[in-house]
Amino acid sequence: MATQLVRRDALKLATAAISLVPSASVLAADVTTTKPTQLLRASWTATDGFSDASFIQFDEGAYAAMRDDEKRTPLFERAIQQRLAAAPPNTLTVLDLGTGPFALLALVAARAGAKKVYTIEANKEAANRAREALEKAKVTNVEVIEGFSTAISLPEKVDLLVAEIAGSIASEEGAYATICDAQARFLKRPNDSASYIPTRIETLAAPCSYAIHYALGPPAFDWTKLKEPVRLNCRDESMQLLASPQLLESIAFADPQLPSAGLLPAQPPLTWTVDGERVASNARVFYEELKREGVTGAEAIALSDGVSRSFSGLAMWARLRIDLGMNAVDCPLMARDCLPHQVLSPLMSSECHLIASLIRCSAR
Ligand SMILES: C[S@@+](CC[C@H](N)C(=O)[O-])C[C@H]1O[C@@H](n2cnc3c(N)ncnc32)[C@H](O)[C@@H]1O
Repeated sequence: MATQLVRRDALKLATAAISLVPSASVLAADVTTTKPTQLLRASWTATDGFSDASFIQFDEGAYAAMRDDEKRTPLFERAIQQRLAAAPPNTLTVLDLGTGPFALLALVAARAGAKKVYTIEANKEAANRAREALEKAKVTNVEVIEGFSTAISLPEKVDLLVAEIAGSIASEEGAYATICDAQARFLKRPNDSASYIPTRIETLAAPCSYAIHYALGPPAFDWTKLKEPVRLNCRDESMQLLASPQLLESIAFADPQLPSAGLLPAQPPLTWTVDGERVASNARVFYEELKREGVTGAEAIALSDGVSRSFSGLAMWARLRIDLGMNAVDCPLMARDCLPHQVLSPLMSSECHLIASLIRCSAR
C-alpha cells in the first residue's frame, strides 16, 4: 500500500526577505538620508503532503493551452522520444504522473515505443477524459489510474517518470511530497536523472512594480484582505520586473536528499539590485498602457513614472528543465522577459513602496 504522507493544512513554505539595493544610475539622486535597511517579508502557502487534492480543478481551457503550447509540448515529446529511443523498443515502462484529460504525454510515450505506460490522475473528470482519449487513439498499453499518486500503488516500478506538476511556484502543488514518494515507490532508478522528464523544476523570482497596487490603496482599498498572492497572466502588462530574476528554489527530481514533508530548510535572503534601464523601460510600458486606457498628457506621465518607481512584491514563476541528450533545456513557458503563463506575487504590504524610500532605508 502507499505510504500515507501527513498533510499539513498550510505550510509556510519559505519566507523571502527582500533587500532592494539601488543602482546608482537611477536612484542616487533620491538618496537623501541613510537609515538601516528595511526588510520586507512575504510568505505564501503551499501544499505539503496530501489528504486531498482540493487545489486541483478541472479547467478545460488551461489543459488545452498546455497541450497546444508550441514551445512546451514539442520539448516534452522530443525528450520522451529520445529517452525511449535509447533502449530497444518495447522494453521501457513509463509513468505519466498527472496525465490530464488528453493523456498527452502518455500517448507520446506509447507511440514512441514504451512497453507499458501507467498514468495517474487525481482529477476525476480528467481521468475519465484520459480514458476516452486513449480509447479513441486505439492505444492499448496505457492504463489510467485515478487518484492522488501518494495514495496509489503500481504493479511494478517504472524506468521513466514524466510529470508536469509544477505550480506557479514550482513546489506549491506538493511537488516535494509527490516526487519523494515517487522516488521511493515508483522508480527503478530513483536517483538517476535519466529517470525523469523534466529533470528539475525551479522557481524564479524578481521584485516587481504592480500598477494596480500602486493605483489602489488604503483607505479606499485594503490589499491585506487579499489573502492570496496576486496571480496574473504573463501578458498582463500591469506588472513589470525591477531587476533580473534569481533562482528561489530548484527541485531536482533525482535528488536523494529532497526534504520530507514539512522539513524544507530555511533559505538565505536574496538581494536584487534595481535595474535602471528596466525602470525606464517599465515607465514606457506603463505609459503606453495608460494611453490605451485613454489616460494621456501630464497625468499619464506622472502615473507611469510613479508606478515604475514603486515596489509591490516578488514576482515568481516556475521553469521546467528538460534534458535533451546532454543539454539541459529550459522549457520556455515564458512569453516575455522570462515571465511564464502565470506569475504570482505576494504583495509585501498594503501599500506599495516607492523605490526611493526603500533606498533611503538601505544602509548606504
Ligand atoms: C499541469 S497538468 C499537466 C497535464 C498534462 N500532463 C500535460 O502536460 O499537459 C497537471 C496534472 O497533474 C495532476 N496532478 C498533480 N499532482 C498530482 C499527483 N500527485 N497525483 C495525481 N495527479 C496529479 C493534476 O490533476 C493535473 O491534471
